[in-house]
This record gives sequence, structure tokens and C-alpha cells, in this order.
Amino acid sequence: MFNSLKYPIIQAPMAGGVSTVDLALAVSQNGGLGFLAAGYKTPEVIEKEILECNASGLPFGVNLFVPQNDTVDEALYLYKLRLEEDFQIKLTIQEPHDDFWAEKLELVMKYKVPYVSFTFGCPSKEIIEQLKKNSSHVIVTVTNLSEAKIAENNGADAICLQGVEAGGHRATFQNVNEDSHVPLMNLINTIHKEIQIPIIAAGGIINGKDIHLALSAGTEAVQLGTAFLCTEESGANFIYKKALQSDQFSETALTRAFTGRLARGLKNDFMSKYESLAPAIYPAVHTLTQPIRAKALREKNPHAMSLWASTRFKEVKQGTVKDVFEQLIKELNLCQS
Ligand SMILES: Cc1cc2nc3c(=O)[nH]c(=O)nc-3n(C[C@H](O)[C@H](O)[C@H](O)COP(=O)(O)O)c2cc1C
Repeated sequence: MFNSLKYPIIQAPMAGGVSTVDLALAVSQNGGLGFLAAGYKTPEVIEKEILECNASGLPFGVNLFVPQNDTVDEALYLYKLRLEEDFQIKLTIQEPHDDFWAEKLELVMKYKVPYVSFTFGCPSKEIIEQLKKNSSHVIVTVTNLSEAKIAENNGADAICLQGVEAGGHRATFQNVNEDSHVPLMNLINTIHKEIQIPIIAAGGIINGKDIHLALSAGTEAVQLGTAFLCTEESGANFIYKKALQSDQFSETALTRAFTGRLARGLKNDFMSKYESLAPAIYPAVHTLTQPIRAKALREKNPHAMSLWASTRFKEVKQGTVKDVFEQLIKELNLCQS
């Protein structure tokens, strides 16, 4: 499934502005596979990005969030009141939203996107079959064996196996699923014996040696997110890039404080203060905290922004995608020689 790529290295889809067309195309130009992130975008915006990638003639993928709407309850109202008081800001609880699921599926079908990946759940057999018939490769992100089996049974071409080290949201099919916090190499060892379809390894892979270890353990490709965050082509904002590279932050943690769904990021004040108060209600908490994060960006305050990153963020490199890619390949070749 990845034979047409020069290197089995996939750039993780990164929603929230990080995954730009430039980033995806630079990765594909260098022999890997670039991904667009459709999550949170309007259909118009992602359509424009797909058209730009299609025009390049390079392989690329589009990632979609499988809709999920946790029920809003009293805990969300209490969280809202507390945040409004602390930040002196008006917040709103929005109506449930499916992130334009049907419209985005229609777009990836219309433009025959070569690779389509999903997170937060597994699409139905019918949807996967339609995409495959339409000549897309279908990838489902999973965090444990039972999710991997569901993806395989529903006909996915491959699974993207996400270890607990991964930056950004846990891809769990259910919002609350704390037993899926397993390190990547342990996950690969358990799952690759049980699953016949190709496995893409993701989570905390930052250098060529990590790539070598994941491929040697039986996976067909690797997916890297944090490794590309500080490249010139990445859309991560200046404060985010600076936070990743300064000594200001010493560790990452998993939190629900920003979105209501567990995600790994640099451990900042917002996470420390609100982790115990944030309810597991996604995407309502995401939209609730949006004005706080936007204000923090305007005020250049990294302590109230979500700074998603893997456990290996201290090893992140700067430069162009070409620089980062060449370094990865050099290290990988050294391990393989
Ligand atoms: C800033 C950021 C945004 C992310 N957004 C998405 C997304 O939109 N869709 C998705 O499937 N995964 C998303 N992820 C998770 C990564 O795809 C995934 O876990 C990755 O392959 C491993 O990331 P790592 O190399 O940072 O550990 C995001 C990760 C980061 C760091």
C-alpha cells in the first residue's frame, strides 16, 4: 500500500492550523506522504486545499474526525462558570456538531483522494467499501486491539496504531477509554500478531532510529507529527514553535482541559489548573474554550493555549521539511547499514 512512496514516512494530519498544504506537499515531494487535516475546517476550506494538492500530482491524504457528540450535562455548565469567572470572558455552549461529516466524505469521494484516514472512531463497512471502490486507501487510527479488530473487520486497508506517547488527541473510539494508554512498541508487539492488514506506527517517533525500530517490529510505515511542528512549512504559530524549543516547558501530559477529549501537550498552567474540573464532553469543551485560547494567542501567552506535542518534543528540529527529512533518512540509513 505504500510501495509507491520512496520512504514509508507519513506526516501526521494535524488539525488546528498546523497541517498546511505547503507542509503536506513538501513531505510528499521529499518521498514521504503528506496529509491534510480536515478536522474543524469548513468544507469550503478543505475543498480548496484538496484542489491544491490534486493539482500537484503528488500523493497525499486527508484525515477526517468521525463524529462524536458527548451529552452536555451540569458539569459543563459548572466548568463554563468557573472559566468565565477566572478569565473574565463570555463563553458559549454550542449545539452538537458533526464537523460536516457528510460533506467532507462527499469531498474525498468527489476528488478521489488517494489516502483517507479517520480518527475518533471507525466508519461503517459501507463507507469504507465506497471509498475503496472509489480508489482511495482507507486508514483507521486505533489505540488498542479491539479497535484494531473493528477496523480490520470493517474493511480498512491499514490501521494507524497510536501509542500513548503521541502528541495531540488520543484517537480512541470512545471518549473515555483509559486502558488504551500503552506505549507504542508494546502496542506493536501485541497487535501485529493478531492483525493481517498493514500497520502504521504513530506516537513519539522523532528520529531515524525510532523509525527503524518501528519498521523492524513489523510495521509498514510510520507517522510523525511533532517532528514536523517546527518546520518552516508547518502552520504552528510563533508562540507554539517557541514554546516547543525553549526550556520553558519540561514535560507533556494528557489533558481534557482544552477540548473534553484526552490529548497530549506541553504541560502549562491551564492544564495544571483545570485538569480536575474539565468534563469528558467533546466537542463541547473544545468550542467552549476557543475564546480563551484565541485571547491567549493575541496576548502571546503560551500558558492558556493548547500546545499539542509528543513526549519527545525536546528533540524537535527546525528548518525546512527537506532538512528534517534528510536528517531522518540519514539516521535511518545508518541504522539499516
Ligand atoms: C498538533 C497536532 C494536531 C493533531 N491533529 C490530528 C488530527 O487532526 N487528526 C489525527 O488523526 N491526528 C491528529 N494528531 C495526532 C497525530 O496524528 C498522531 O498521534 C501522530 O501520528 C503521532 O504524533 P507524534 O509524532 O506527534 O507523536 C495531532 C497531533 C498533533 C501534535
